[in-house]
Amino acid sequence: MAAGRMAKEGGQPGPLLVLGIESSCDETAAAVVSSDRRILSNVVASQIEEHRRYGGVVPEIASRRHLEAILPVIREALDQAGVGIADIGLVAATRGPGLVGALLVGLSTAKGLAAAAGLPFVGVHHIAGHIAAARLADPGLAPPFLCLVASGGHSHLVLVRDSAAGGPGGPIRDASPFLVLARTRDDAAGEALDKIARTLGLGYPGGPAMERAAREGNGDPRAFRFPRPALQDSLDFSFSGLKTAAISLLHHLHQKGETVRTADFAASFQQAVVDTLADTVLEGLRRTGVPALALSGGVAANTVLRKELEARCAAAGIRFSVPPPALCTDNAAMIAMAGCDAFLAGRRDSLDVNAEPAWPLEEAWADGSGGPDGPDGPDGPDATDPAAPVP
Ligand code: KG4
Ligand code: ZN
Repeated sequence: MAAGRMAKEGGQPGPLLVLGIESSCDETAAAVVSSDRRILSNVVASQIEEHRRYGGVVPEIASRRHLEAILPVIREALDQAGVGIADIGLVAATRGPGLVGALLVGLSTAKGLAAAAGLPFVGVHHIAGHIAAARLADPGLAPPFLCLVASGGHSHLVLVRDSAAGGPGGPIRDASPFLVLARTRDDAAGEALDKIARTLGLGYPGGPAMERAAREGNGDPRAFRFPRPALQDSLDFSFSGLKTAAISLLHHLHQKGETVRTADFAASFQQAVVDTLADTVLEGLRRTGVPALALSGGVAANTVLRKELEARCAAAGIRFSVPPPALCTDNAAMIAMAGCDAFLAGRRDSLDVNAEPAWPLEEAWADGSGGPDGPDGPDGPDATDPAAPVP
């Protein structure tokens, strides 16, 4: 069992090896990560080409492709790591949020493997995975820190708190490590980029296409004036107004017969998204007084956003950390790492857990080892209150 697999020849406990599995959207991924934060393998089979012709992810197609890819991808991850299932001490898989049919493929496979090999299993929240990517890439990043998770499905600003047991960066036994300071009220940042890229005819996925068009065409980020949406009295994001403003402007310019320089439009829209994210993050840092920021999620692969936040953090004396692009976009190393952290904090999931397509981050911890009173216990801080004191 796990304890035996953690023991090295001399009887000294070795690092725990975790098999992570991710299938929440259009990437089938498996990875082997050790509890001392080494990535032994990180295999991603992308379905992007498959969905490109439809301009977005088609859920039914995604599920079918996951089914075809899941076992070869897991086999490849074990082979690349040079280990067999007998060396693994824990299986972790994304349980939600995501497309339910897609989630079920990875989750069911993970549970089947755990049952067959007699291994413990942990179901991971996808956003907790993105946050774990930041700590995987930067072992010096210790709570408390804020993490901006910006992807195609989510825009969350999360306070990752000090551990209740085990010291900074260590496991948390009895309280959720996550306090959501802001989330999107409508579209996610990546979703807005994807939609405008499609309108500009740049294809799918839109974020990288938009970045490429702006960079290669030497686009001027000040050529078009877009709003920087901010809600009053709330840190929450809202990108649908910005998206509508961009679509209306394009429509208006086309009606007037004006030629729109795609590179300029892309650069200006990208800058508006970047500024909106950065303004909120800096305000969150100011309000909480937290000294460190991490950036993760697919949009974190964006060079303009990385540079903007790096510069603003440097000016404000904030420690800034961002994983390499391959760990920002969906992958299974981040799921393995998040599962490992939860497992070492005492979490075990039963094999009858189901997929959770719309799973709030605050509830993910409570569902495992956090107890029946919710992520913060009966008297814990309000998870949506941005003014809640930093523990
Ligand atoms: O985290 P992710 O791989 O999947 C989700 O959990 O959604 O994020 C995918 C999103 C897409 O919207 C994609 O357009 C965006 O991340 N993205 C980027 C870049 N690379 C991926 N957005 C801006 N710039 C990029 N370089
Ligand atoms: Zn993601």
